[in-house]
Amino acid sequence: MNVLLIGSGGREHALGWALRKSPLLGELLAAPGNGGIGEIAECVELNIADHGAVIGLCRDRDIGFVVVGPEAPLVAGLVDELTAAGIAAFGPSAAAAQLEGSKGFTKDFCAEFGIPTAAYRRCTTAEEAIAHLREVGAPIVVKADGLAAGKGVVVAETLEDAEAAVAACFSGAFAAAGSAVVIEECLVGEEASFFALVDGQTALPLATAQDHKRAHDGDTGPNTGGMGAYSPAPVMTDALCRQTMDEIILPTVRGMAARGTPYRGVLYAGLMITAEGPKLIEYNVRFGDPECQVLMMRLDGDLLDALIATAEDRLDRVTLDWREEVALTVVMAARGYPGAYEKGSEIRGLEKASAGTDVEIFHAGTKRDGDRVLASGGRVLNVTALGATVAEAQARAYAAVDLIDWPEGFCRRDIGWRAIARERGR
Ligand code: AMP
Ligand code: GLY
Repeated sequence: MNVLLIGSGGREHALGWALRKSPLLGELLAAPGNGGIGEIAECVELNIADHGAVIGLCRDRDIGFVVVGPEAPLVAGLVDELTAAGIAAFGPSAAAAQLEGSKGFTKDFCAEFGIPTAAYRRCTTAEEAIAHLREVGAPIVVKADGLAAGKGVVVAETLEDAEAAVAACFSGAFAAAGSAVVIEECLVGEEASFFALVDGQTALPLATAQDHKRAHDGDTGPNTGGMGAYSPAPVMTDALCRQTMDEIILPTVRGMAARGTPYRGVLYAGLMITAEGPKLIEYNVRFGDPECQVLMMRLDGDLLDALIATAEDRLDRVTLDWREEVALTVVMAARGYPGAYEKGSEIRGLEKASAGTDVEIFHAGTKRDGDRVLASGGRVLNVTALGATVAEAQARAYAAVDLIDWPEGFCRRDIGWRAIARERGR
C-alpha cells in the first residue's frame, strides 16, 4: 500500500522511519517533508492547507492511506475531506479534533463527563476575564481558546501577569485563537504525557513520556515546543496508567461517541500528577513532538498496521509491544530559538553521529542542498538514543550530539535530569 505522510517535523521523520519497517508499505510519500524525511520517503512540494491538492496527489499516486502528523490540518478538516473522497486516513475528524482546537470545548466536555481537570471559567470579553481574575486571584493560568502553536498559555504567578495575558489575548496576539480565553486553577504536581490509539470505541494505550518545554538547562528560559523528551515517564506507574485509562481516556472515548463525534486517531493527554491523582491539563489530537520520536524508538510492532486498524475500527484485535529500554531525545535548535534565529547554516558530521548503536537522528527542520544539510527551522535535529537506563540513553544521545559539527546550533545538556535523579535515588 502506498502511504502519504503529511507534515515536515521530527515527529513526521520518526513516523516515516517506523512506517518503513512495515511489510504492508509500498511507496512512502511525504508532503512537504524535510531534508531527513527525503532520505526515507519521496518528498512532494504541496500546500497541505489546500485539501483539494492533497486529494489530487492521492489519486495521481494511488495512495491507499494518509497519515496526518500535525494538528492544524486535522482541525481544518483534512481527514473529513479525504474520507469523503474515499481515501482512508489516520487522524480525527474536525469535530473530534476540537479536543485540541478549542480549550473551552475540552473543559466543557470534561465537566459534562466527569473527567478530572483544573477548575475553569470560559470568558469571551476582557472585562469578564479580568473581573473573574480579581475574584479568584493568583497563581492562575490564562489560555487563549484556539490553536496558538504552543504559545497561548500563561501560568501567571501574579494578578498583574494574568491581566497582561488577558489583555494580550483580546488585543489580537493570537488572532482568532485569542478571541475567547479559558482561565483555570493552577495545578501542582509532576507533568507526564500519556498516549493512546482510539478507533471510536476501543482505546489501546501506547507508552508514556515526559518532555522539557523550557529553552535552557534547569528548566529555565522561555517556553518552546519541547527541547527534549524521554520514554517511559518514571512517574507513570502501572497503577497510574490504569487510573488514567479509567478516569480520563475511556470516559473521553465514550463521551465523544455519545455525542455522535467518535474520536479516531492518537489521543495525547497532557497530565498533571497531583496529590489527588492524574488530572488532564490538555488534550492534543496528534503525536507529541518530540515525544513521538522516543515512542517510535521503543515501538516493537507494525505501526502502519496499527494506524490502519485505528481508521478501520478494529483496534480490539491489535497488540503492540514496546522495548524495555528507555529512549531519550535531545533537540538541537538554531541559536536564538524560540526567538529570532538564522536559517541556512550547514550541519556536518551527521553520518558519524548516527553510526552508534541504538542512535537515530531525526530531522526536524533541515533541507538538502546537494550533499549538504542546511538548517531551515527553529528546532532542527532530534538526536535520539536507547539505553538500559535514562542515564545510559542520555550518555549515548549526548555522545552523538558531540559528534555533530554545527556551531550555529545549541541544545540543553540536562535532558532527563528529573528521571536520572530518580534513578540515582533508587
Ligand atoms: P498547554 O499548551 O496547555 O500544554 O500548556 C503549556 C504548559 O502550561 C503545560 O505543559 C503546563 O506546564 C502549563 N499548564 C497549563 N495548564 C496548567 C494548569 N492548569 N496548571 C498548571 N500548569 C499548567
Ligand atoms: N512537545 C509538546 C507537544 O507536542 O505539544
